[in-house]
Amino acid sequence: MRNNYCSSSSFFFLAVVSLLVFTLNGPAGNSSWSPLTWNAGFLGSDQVPEQKQLPQVVDEIVRRYNKLEKLESGLARARSFIRQAALIRNSTSTHQDPDYVPCGPIYRNANAFHRSYLEMEKLFKIYVYEEGELPLFHDGPCKDIYSSEGLLFRDLEFYNIYRTKDYDKAMVFFLPFGVTELVQYLYVPGDYKLPDIGRTVVDYINTISIKYPFWNRSLGADHFMLACHDWGPQTSKFVPNLFNKSIRVLCNANTSEGFNPSKDVTLPGLYLRTGKLRGLLGGLSPSHRSILAFFAGGEHGYIRSLLFQHWKNSTDQDIQVFEYLPRGVSYKSMIRKSKFCLCPSGYEVGSPRIVESIYAGCVPVIIKDGYVPPFSDVLNWKTFSVKVEVKEIPNLKKILMNISQRQYLRMQRRVKQVQRHFVVNETPKRFDIFHMTVHSIWLRRLNVQIKDFDD
Ligand SMILES: *[C@@H]1O[C@H](CO)[C@@H](O)[C@H](O)[C@H]1NC(C)=O
Ligand SMILES: *[C@@H]1O[C@H](CO)[C@@H](O)[C@H](O)[C@H]1NC(C)=O
Ligand SMILES: *[C@@H]1O[C@H](CO)[C@@H](O)[C@H](O)[C@H]1NC(C)=O
Ligand SMILES: *[C@@H]1O[C@H](CO)[C@@H](O)[C@H](O)[C@H]1NC(C)=O
Ligand SMILES: *[C@@H]1O[C@H](CO)[C@@H](O)[C@H](O)[C@H]1NC(C)=O
Ligand SMILES: *[C@@H]1O[C@H](CO)[C@@H](O)[C@H](O)[C@H]1NC(C)=O
Ligand SMILES: *[C@@H]1O[C@H](CO)[C@@H](O)[C@H](O)[C@H]1NC(C)=O
Repeated sequence: MRNNYCSSSSFFFLAVVSLLVFTLNGPAGNSSWSPLTWNAGFLGSDQVPEQKQLPQVVDEIVRRYNKLEKLESGLARARSFIRQAALIRNSTSTHQDPDYVPCGPIYRNANAFHRSYLEMEKLFKIYVYEEGELPLFHDGPCKDIYSSEGLLFRDLEFYNIYRTKDYDKAMVFFLPFGVTELVQYLYVPGDYKLPDIGRTVVDYINTISIKYPFWNRSLGADHFMLACHDWGPQTSKFVPNLFNKSIRVLCNANTSEGFNPSKDVTLPGLYLRTGKLRGLLGGLSPSHRSILAFFAGGEHGYIRSLLFQHWKNSTDQDIQVFEYLPRGVSYKSMIRKSKFCLCPSGYEVGSPRIVESIYAGCVPVIIKDGYVPPFSDVLNWKTFSVKVEVKEIPNLKKILMNISQRQYLRMQRRVKQVQRHFVVNETPKRFDIFHMTVHSIWLRRLNVQIKDFDD
């Protein structure tokens, strides 16, 4: 197998509640499981492949049907275990674990999360469509601002942690087009309609939907795509069911652009200059953090304009906002000695800053419209980050000064506790960013039930 992956190139409370989100929050009334079902006709008589005899085809349908039944009943059991676990209101998981036992207020429901995680490890299987050639498929960058795209490709395809080669055992199907690569090779400068990228994605879905029965069976609901590139959402629009039904794992998780938290997954942005985590974790102890709040970055997008307008040339030493850092001052040293790190949207909502802050032990201050933070169905972001509304930017200092030292220390401690879920490992380790991202996909898969036949 190839092992040279990586190309060179409101605190979120769900309104439309998918059950799992409800479950991980703990009990809330008696809502019953009401999965969406897609009853796409499977191999109707006019679709029977000619070269096979009818009995063989019937056998195959029955065999596949039985496998799907079995798989769905496994998922149903998992849902019910997770529901039961959610009833135990204990901030410490009651499940055994040799590595880590989730506990504390960083979790919406530590026990439900832990149970769900353990069920995922036991059951979850991902099939990666093999169709598609390098460089446009099966790869992404690991060393630039879209690092999380390449790393997730690598971890999904290279390590057989969740991957299965047997599509009848698969609970989800991965559509391995690499959006960053598509943009690099097929984008014609100035043509924001992305026609060549669109054609490639449409062709790909056509190919796999003719060759395999799985896309038609669910209309894409048990399929997922991946993109950290800003144009991920745009790329998914070329196939209506990909946009509306499939699980889209996106850094650009902008609800105004159709990101749907009950079926889509926020991929944390990462900027790993070397492709590795080395040297990024750290930071001074809270008592040595001399700057109240810090930001440095380009002026793009309306939110940053507003931030710069109010704070860039400010003589106030508490809020340090730069477009360009002064000579000799390093970005890393600044976030390591700041109490709060500002994470405003740029042109797009996704950015590596939240994870950078978490690595540096700096409490993130999220200033974004319509952004769904990563792993929100598991993590209680309120307890380790600050959300500031865009219109409150002028009051930034007042808002941050209003956070008591005690409260700040609690948040900072939790930032360090939550680090484990954002850490990148050379080989994935339990509860790290890879497993947490897969866990988000697992939760979305639990939200649907796939059927082969009309009832
Ligand atoms: C939930 O169901 C139980 C038993 O089925 C019932 O006693 C209870 O009143 C219900 N609660 C609500 C909020 O509907
Ligand atoms: C919560 O879980 C911990 C650890 O398993 C256990 O010691 C404690 O008794 C539990 N508390 C409640 C109220 O169930
Ligand atoms: C899936 O549906 C498409 C369009 O309706 C059709 O062309 C294709 O043959 C179907 N695939 C299978 C495997 O039946
Ligand atoms: C998604 O579904 C909505 C409502 O059915 C529809 O208006 C929209 O065009 C669909 N999106 C895409 C990209 O096809
Ligand atoms: C900040 O100061 C620089 C140089 O003095 C000036 O060019 C710039 O327009 C100022 N920016 C704002 C937002 O006031
Ligand atoms: C999010 O999407 C909306 C609608 O397309 C857009 O106006 C906005 O600029 C996007 N980005 C950010 C950072 O909010
Ligand atoms: C300061 O905090 C208090 C309570 O936590 C809150 O009621 C008040 O509105 C806050 N003031 C500002 C300016 O944020």
